[in-house]
Amino acid sequence: MNVLILGSGGREHAFAWKLAQSKKLNNLFIAPGNAGTAAVGTNVEIGVNDFDAIKEFVLVNDIKIVVVGPEDPLVNGVHDFFLADEELKNVGVIGPKKDGAELEGSKEFSKIFMEKHGVPTAKYQSFTTANLEAGYTFLESLKPPYVLKADGLAAGKGVLILDDLAEAKTELANMTNGKFGNASATVVIEEFLHGIELSVFVLTDGESYKILPSAKDYKRIGEGDVGLNTGGMGAISPVPFADQAYLDKVEELVVKPTIAGLKADGIDYKGFIFIGLMNDNGNPSVVEYNVRMGDPETEVVIPRIKSDLLDLFEGVANQTLGEKTFEVDERTATTVMLVSGGYPEAYEKGKVMTGFDAIENSIPFHAGTKQDGENVVTSGGRVLALTSFGDTIQEALSHSFANAEKINFEKKNYRKDIGFDLV
Ligand code: AMP
Ligand code: GLY
Repeated sequence: MNVLILGSGGREHAFAWKLAQSKKLNNLFIAPGNAGTAAVGTNVEIGVNDFDAIKEFVLVNDIKIVVVGPEDPLVNGVHDFFLADEELKNVGVIGPKKDGAELEGSKEFSKIFMEKHGVPTAKYQSFTTANLEAGYTFLESLKPPYVLKADGLAAGKGVLILDDLAEAKTELANMTNGKFGNASATVVIEEFLHGIELSVFVLTDGESYKILPSAKDYKRIGEGDVGLNTGGMGAISPVPFADQAYLDKVEELVVKPTIAGLKADGIDYKGFIFIGLMNDNGNPSVVEYNVRMGDPETEVVIPRIKSDLLDLFEGVANQTLGEKTFEVDERTATTVMLVSGGYPEAYEKGKVMTGFDAIENSIPFHAGTKQDGENVVTSGGRVLALTSFGDTIQEALSHSFANAEKINFEKKNYRKDIGFDLV
């Protein structure tokens, strides 16, 4: 079977690395990919939102399955585009249609969905410029900190958490007046949830589902979880406090009503659901849904899956996922992300990377890299995720950190405290 992956980060390299191990795979393509994906498949210079070019490529190369990495093409309707096209409609697309992608594309939609289907989540209301006064009143009814979320996609920047009421009111006005463009024309204000975050990932064909390994990521740039938000500086799987009893609770309270809710609402969902949870004393509450895998969570979740990922994807496409075996490696996986100096603010690209040959006991998943003649050079803020296994978090991390030292590029930065709160 020929497969096309859309995307260019560590997540897509992890998918490519895993799919390349499948006996069912013939040719693997990644659009646009990076220097890492080029080593396990063929990179294709097509953008993830260039649907016409994707169509032509899929037809010429007899692609049977398209795996959509990022949310953007899903929210833009890549799956709908395939279904509406006579020549493409039988190609399997891993990722929901536009209707399902609204779970990530609109915070208001996801809150309405959760309320309707009894999925535990923070109390909320949404506001626009038309009812700002009501928004101020709602803020006054809440205890700080105040959580303000742009309804639409805002490149991970659309959530503000503020301690001061006056500031929260000002920001509500700013957001509805276009602080994040059209994405914040509607603002969801919700109750602040206390607890520890973790992420649970589900793969579904719309009928049945598999719960994938859980993970925790480290979003802040600074050690001790301080400073600016990033795409993610590292991840750990499994999460020790999310034991089987807790995960059973998540399945009953969150996963089952989510899958049943999608069906009840006529949303035929095929793909990943990434459930961001707050764990408050053993009680899960949903912070957000994403309609794709997380990055860098994928770099620890996918390596722990022992089963053939292409077989599972085939099950999603043919709605036979329920018949597929699904096995998980019991060991712990950790990943540590090397980033460009300055990230998540301004940073330089094009730095030559060295040390790949010295890597031992880690899998290097490329995030922002590209091949430049003989050299691999940096091409993004997040550069390389070093994933390792161990019987304990410490053991796995010791490999990731040792290799983080061996890879060099000018102004390399990484967090040396990934997992600090779990060990
Ligand atoms: P979201 O994009 O909805 O995941 O929000 C981004 C981040 O803001 C989350 O990963 C949490 O760390 C934090 N956050 C969002 N909503 C809440 C909430 N209701 N209570 C506490 N923290 C939150
Ligand atoms: N690591 C968080 C995300 O992928 O959204």
